Amino acid sequence: MHSIFRPLPRLFPLALLALAQVLTAAPFLDSSDIARADELLEQMTQEEKIGQLIQLSPWEPTGEEFLGLVRAGQVGSFLNVIEPEAVRLIQKTALKESRLGIPLIIGRDIIHGFRTIQPIPLGLAATWNPAVIEEGSALAAREARSVGVNWTFAPMLDVTRDPRWGRIAESVGEDPFLGAALARAYVRGFQGTDLSAPDRIAACVKHFAGYGFSQAGKDYNTTWIPDQQLWETVLPPFKAAIDAGAATVMTAFNDLNGIPCSGNAFLFREVLRERWEFEGFVVSDWGSIDQMMSHGNAADMREAARLAALAGVDMEMASPAYRDHLAALVEEGVLGQEMIDEKVRNILQVKSALGLFENPYPAEGASYPPAVTDEARAIARRAAEESFVLLKNEESVLPLAEGRKIALIGPLADQPYEQLGTWSFDGAAEDSISVRAAFAELAAAGNHEVRFAAGLGHSRDRSSEGFAEAIAAAEAADVVVFVGGEEAILSGEAHSRAHPTLPGAQETLLHALARTGKPIVLVIMAGRPLILENVLGDIDALLYAWHPGTMAGPALANVLTGAVAPSGKLPVTFPRAVGQIPIFYSHRNTGRPFNPDSWVPMDEIPIGARQTSLGNESHYLDESVEPRFHFGEGLSYTTFRYTDARFSSAEVAVGETVEVSVALTNTGDVAGTEVAQLYLRDLAASITRPVRELKGFQKITLAPGETRTLTFVLGPEALAFPGPDGYARLEAGTFEVFVGGDSRAPSVGTFELR
Ligand code: GLC
Repeated sequence: MHSIFRPLPRLFPLALLALAQVLTAAPFLDSSDIARADELLEQMTQEEKIGQLIQLSPWEPTGEEFLGLVRAGQVGSFLNVIEPEAVRLIQKTALKESRLGIPLIIGRDIIHGFRTIQPIPLGLAATWNPAVIEEGSALAAREARSVGVNWTFAPMLDVTRDPRWGRIAESVGEDPFLGAALARAYVRGFQGTDLSAPDRIAACVKHFAGYGFSQAGKDYNTTWIPDQQLWETVLPPFKAAIDAGAATVMTAFNDLNGIPCSGNAFLFREVLRERWEFEGFVVSDWGSIDQMMSHGNAADMREAARLAALAGVDMEMASPAYRDHLAALVEEGVLGQEMIDEKVRNILQVKSALGLFENPYPAEGASYPPAVTDEARAIARRAAEESFVLLKNEESVLPLAEGRKIALIGPLADQPYEQLGTWSFDGAAEDSISVRAAFAELAAAGNHEVRFAAGLGHSRDRSSEGFAEAIAAAEAADVVVFVGGEEAILSGEAHSRAHPTLPGAQETLLHALARTGKPIVLVIMAGRPLILENVLGDIDALLYAWHPGTMAGPALANVLTGAVAPSGKLPVTFPRAVGQIPIFYSHRNTGRPFNPDSWVPMDEIPIGARQTSLGNESHYLDESVEPRFHFGEGLSYTTFRYTDARFSSAEVAVGETVEVSVALTNTGDVAGTEVAQLYLRDLAASITRPVRELKGFQKITLAPGETRTLTFVLGPEALAFPGPDGYARLEAGTFEVFVGGDSRAPSVGTFELR
């Protein structure tokens, strides 16, 4: 067993901690899966073995071309087959007509719901609630498995700090600790405790690894990530998912420090297999093995196949390198037969663990699309409600009091498809309830008067034709609710933006509405943090809704009217300007940290000033060093106070734990839900540590005036940090603790690790 901890200068029961790691790893395989794979391998021809390594996206799933491949055992997986009858025919052909009766594993991108679409993952991260993610992933698994899909290409665990990157929408945000907590919840939700259950599917953690650091936020771009950053920021969510028993892993498109991930033996041999003892299988991303030629790492397809096979990629998605070259590479002695057998074994074991040899079929009577049940709607609505982040609420313009006249305006107020967000393949507009529809129900109930005037036809609309009607609606109302942001297609894969602001004429319309003098509530639907500097002065309240999914309308109606209090917290920092990117809370202090007392903004520098190299600190001449909104930030309709912080001891020995407790009080006159956050700073270490690192959070609902004592337990894993070799270091010294409602939490004291 490779200890993840290197022997320390001071003795420390590393084996105990390492053992805990192993015991907590949730093995999804049992001996029967392993035995079945070995028995089949004994019987398989080379062609059948290589067939298991091939995944295709069939344009005609039940056409003879593809059924012929299934019958001949020359394909091991299909993706994007979702019609139950097609799945039934394919699996029946595999079980009854192929020589060895090996079923296919059927994959699909089920990123934030299958038919019932939940908030995009960045919105789910804003719930800071693993239970919400587990419940939603279990719902997605039920819906998908019912039609015969048994594998999802999720969760996406790419930590990122770049709002330009379109795939931030799919991510867990900027922080590895929060990302790891959510990763465990996704795997539990998709896989449950028995992968063969008829309502569970195999998870596929992606994209391994470092994709979220695509240079300049441009998708598919190069990533240069120092080992230190890899171990402390990029890998922890993946490690958490593997420890939770994730069955599969997907390679990333990017080249990592010059080596494309799909040919990166460090990632897939050393880290994933040797250190983490991963037991499942690895699938390439779409064509990512082929793309090693474009990367300039493989001279031809044969070389790409060789490099990917050596690196440990088991299954090839949608490109022919393995199909066309693996057999010859073995015949010529370039690759060993045992390497091929290892790949086949990894795949067969997962198929067996999924119960596919017994029952690969859709549920009896299943139809596509599966119905969106009331239970599913309730799950999606609660997730959306918890995902919304209240970032501004001047004069308590929210919640909207009963009886008020509301002007509902904006290009996303009545867009049942756009509110689903990116990667919502199986979601449908006809199931989706828009904000306009939900507000119409409010009006019908008599509690509010609502007048709708979109003002703009879509988020990129530059026409002012609708302005007059919108302005008239505003003038006749008590309050404006403006639902703006980005259409779904403006985020997600291949959709990075160099200017992540409100598209079209939305800013112009907001300025015009502000001139009516009516209070404006801005609701943003977007797949990324947007830079809103130009409109923050126009609005009185800001509710960040991400892309909330099928139940966006009812969820927003509940939160805007106060039926449900907002409780979301930002999982990612919001910049003021693109020039600040990457900007994130867990930065290093530097040798010359920003000093507000000595900062001279550009316009105040005397003309003709001479250069000086004295007394300079880390800042910009033309922009604040502060973000617009902070990681962990989010308001409620009430207020909270943290008091009476206590430590179980002022000193803690290596290997022991220290408890930090704090009293949290709801100081307002309505109930509210707070996410109490604990951050830590190791004041001096052999490798510089961030000024703060999230090490604990608790989401708690309190009645008005209620006080609850919260306790956080900090053990060795919280105090340790990885070195560039990935081994944990635990070093004596002083640790400062911060507890509060976001990453600006005040210090509550220090303790010594001896
Ligand atoms: C895409 C994405 C990946 C997805 C796969 C299958 O290119 O990068 O996240 O799962 O192909 O659709």
